[in-house]
Amino acid sequence: MESLVVDHPLVAHKLTTLRDVRTDSPTFRRLADELVTLLAYEATRDVRITDVTVQTPLAPAHGVRLARPAPLVVPILRAGLGMLDGMMRLLPTAEVGFLGMIRDESTLQAQTYATRLPEDLSGRQCYVLDPMLATGGTLGAAIQFLFDRGAEDVTALCLLAAPEGVAYLDEMFQGSGKPIRVVTAGMDERLNENGYIVPGLGDAGDRLYGVV
Ligand code: URA
Repeated sequence: MESLVVDHPLVAHKLTTLRDVRTDSPTFRRLADELVTLLAYEATRDVRITDVTVQTPLAPAHGVRLARPAPLVVPILRAGLGMLDGMMRLLPTAEVGFLGMIRDESTLQAQTYATRLPEDLSGRQCYVLDPMLATGGTLGAAIQFLFDRGAEDVTALCLLAAPEGVAYLDEMFQGSGKPIRVVTAGMDERLNENGYIVPGLGDAGDRLYGVV
């Protein structure tokens, strides 16, 4: 598995404000949206393209278009929804599938409560949106779900990641032969005893949408 921490001053600037406990929900939503667009630029570096020729006002010009089938973007509900617009801004022709997963706070295990995705993902490049790669349980289950439906490769976009989560995914998918990438704005120090990323930014879903 490949993991990439996007090293860019704008990414670092926006992430710092996201972390700040004084940042209110409207600002948090806007910055998360902007940050995802910057991550999406790196995350789509290997998106499949096909050669085309277009006619300029002067002459034919060789270029590329995104290949078919279209990439599939998969936000993990609920917090991943806060990343969807930022991703679709760069990939407007992508399709969107939804995966509802919740972490049992006592066992930290991921449970699937909703799925709205094509049955057959053969040949599809998938982009999973999950703001916090903490234990890796939720993201690992989501990636496995996509591979079980035939996905060709999976790239996860995360606002923040913890080393424990990356190690978990590494171990879970080692030897699977499937290409997996994690693209994140920051790799933090560790998880605390409740499975939260430290220093992190708190509960991403709550900060986006309020405490429910
Ligand atoms: N989920 C969050 O929202 N925050 C964390 O720090 C870990 C998991």
